[in-house]
Amino acid sequence: MDLAYRYQLLPMSFSCLTTIVLLLGSVLALVKDGRDEIDRLALLEFKARIADPSGVLRSWNDSSHFCDWDGVTCGRKHRRVTILDLGSKNLSGVVPPHIGNLSFLRGVDLENNSFHAKIPPQVGRLLRLQMLFLNNNSFSGEIPSNLSYCSNMLFLDLGFNMLKGNLPTELGSLSKLQQLILQVNSLMGNIPPSIGNLSSLQVFATSTNNFGGTIPETLGQLRNLKRLSLSENKFVNTIPISIFNISALAWLGVAENQLEGGLPGDLGFTLPNIKIINTWHNHLTGPIPKSISNASNLEMIQINQNNFTGKVPSLSKIRGLYRFNSVSNNLGGEQSTDLDFLCSLTNSTKLKFLEISDNAFRGLIPDCISNLSTTLFMFGLAYNHISGTSPSGIGSLINLEILQM
Ligand SMILES: *[C@@H]1O[C@H](CO)[C@@H](O)[C@H](O)[C@H]1NC(C)=O
Ligand SMILES: *[C@@H]1O[C@H](CO)[C@@H](O)[C@H](O)[C@H]1NC(C)=O
Ligand SMILES: *[C@@H]1O[C@H](CO)[C@@H](O)[C@H](O)[C@H]1NC(C)=O
Ligand SMILES: *[C@@H]1O[C@H](CO)[C@@H](O)[C@H](O)[C@H]1NC(C)=O
Ligand SMILES: *[C@@H]1O[C@H](CO)[C@@H](O)[C@H](O)[C@H]1NC(C)=O
Ligand SMILES: *[C@@H]1O[C@H](CO)[C@@H](O)[C@H](O)[C@H]1NC(C)=O
Ligand SMILES: *[C@@H]1O[C@H](CO)[C@@H](O)[C@H](O)[C@H]1NC(C)=O
Ligand SMILES: *[C@@H]1O[C@H](CO)[C@@H](O)[C@H](O)[C@H]1NC(C)=O
Ligand SMILES: *[C@@H]1O[C@H](CO)[C@@H](O)[C@H](O)[C@H]1NC(C)=O
Ligand SMILES: *[C@@H]1O[C@H](CO)[C@@H](O)[C@H](O)[C@H]1NC(C)=O
Ligand SMILES: *[C@@H]1O[C@H](CO)[C@@H](O)[C@H](O)[C@H]1NC(C)=O
Ligand SMILES: *[C@@H]1O[C@H](CO)[C@@H](O)[C@H](O)[C@H]1NC(C)=O
Repeated sequence: MDLAYRYQLLPMSFSCLTTIVLLLGSVLALVKDGRDEIDRLALLEFKARIADPSGVLRSWNDSSHFCDWDGVTCGRKHRRVTILDLGSKNLSGVVPPHIGNLSFLRGVDLENNSFHAKIPPQVGRLLRLQMLFLNNNSFSGEIPSNLSYCSNMLFLDLGFNMLKGNLPTELGSLSKLQQLILQVNSLMGNIPPSIGNLSSLQVFATSTNNFGGTIPETLGQLRNLKRLSLSENKFVNTIPISIFNISALAWLGVAENQLEGGLPGDLGFTLPNIKIINTWHNHLTGPIPKSISNASNLEMIQINQNNFTGKVPSLSKIRGLYRFNSVSNNLGGEQSTDLDFLCSLTNSTKLKFLEISDNAFRGLIPDCISNLSTTLFMFGLAYNHISGTSPSGIGSLINLEILQM
């Protein structure tokens, strides 16, 4: 019987007014309790489908209000569940569709457990949801396209699961999304161009999946992107030039794909914040751009197993460089000054790995290598055409443990 109907049945006399007010009050209280009850039932349904060997959910019983249960946080006024925090609790089981009834949820953290089966599409009913951490479980099936209704989502981490199928195009509508992490799953197909509409995105991590096709050019529209990780997939063709235009980018990982083409000559100017360039194991060609030294925040240049050619430019301004790995390319081969770039690294005080084996380098090892940072741990220059003697000053590299000649 609805509220308005009940109201009509009551004679509108003065003496009845108090009754009406009282009645209305108790009906409202009932409705309120009813909403509470929805949350309680959903939590109990959740508990019923979970194996909990560590007894983490022991407090989920009738002796206390659910707002006091471990891992549950409620809003102060409305006493509805706002946060479910159950990361690293040795839990296994399935997430029931009832999770979609917890309509005040803002954050769900189930990471580092053993949940399996599908991510219920009812999560799409959680319109207040800002954080969903389901990473490091055994979730299977496809990513529900219904997640696109969670328009307040900021962080979505589905990494380290067993998810299959395509990345739903619809997710391109999550305009507030800052992190989309899908690494280590079995996702396939193209990255939908609509991902370029996620204008707040800072982290897009898809490494170790079966994604393929061409990397969409629209990713270059992500002006806030700091970390782009596309490694260990099946991407082909060239890296879209638009990506080298994202000046916020700090981490570019495209390793272990089948990418072709070269790095743009002005990379060092267009990516002033870049820290990590990881392109190993592709089919990239052409020179290492001279401008790379202007990207003075670089910490790691890992371009091994490609087909880069030409003279390695000065790296003198990259003082925080930790690793330079150009193993198995076609660098050098032009003149006896091939190894001069090693002298440009003498101010790089964090250098630990310097690996240039299996290229076409010629000439003598310059004496300046004795001035390389004493932090150097590994120096590899095997399988080249280097001649002469090894400089006596090499002995000053007191932390060198691996020397491959
Ligand atoms: C019920 O929860 C309380 C904490 O709220 C706990 O002390 C008690 O052991 C629980 N009861 C059972 C039967 O697990
Ligand atoms: C999940 O595991 C990772 C790796 O061990 C750890 O860094 C992270 O803090 C864990 N998360 C939680 C919520 O315990
Ligand atoms: C999970 O299980 C491990 C190993 O049995 C145990 O050391 C750890 O304390 C458990 N975690 C929780 C939250 O109970
Ligand atoms: C909660 O959700 C489930 C499944 O989505 C549904 O069957 C149930 O009726 C809902 N309502 C309550 C009060 O549990
Ligand atoms: C996954 O969670 C387990 C604990 O459940 C933890 O030991 C492991 O480091 C986590 N792995 C990752 C990649 O977060
Ligand atoms: C998907 O989300 C929409 C919008 O929140 C909701 O109406 C619908 O019930 C959800 N689908 C399922 C299967 O829960
Ligand atoms: C999202 O991106 C796609 C493909 O890049 C585009 O066609 C579409 O118009 C965009 N939608 C919105 C709402 O911006
Ligand atoms: C790079 O960015 C500039 C300005 O931000 C824009 O005019 C240009 O079209 C972009 N180039 C590519 C290839 O996206
Ligand atoms: C780039 O580096 C070169 C050589 O170190 C320097 O002369 C030039 O001014 C730098 N350009 C910019 C835009 O920083
Ligand atoms: C590398 O490129 C050169 C030409 O620049 C070519 O002759 C050679 O076959 C290529 N090597 C590989 C492994 O692709
Ligand atoms: C190293 O730094 C010193 C002092 O700033 C400078 O004079 C020298 O030219 C630098 N050497 C290289 C190889 O960049
Ligand atoms: C090493 O650096 C010092 C100080 O900058 C310089 O005097 C010396 O000539 C350098 N040694 C070599 C072999 O380049």
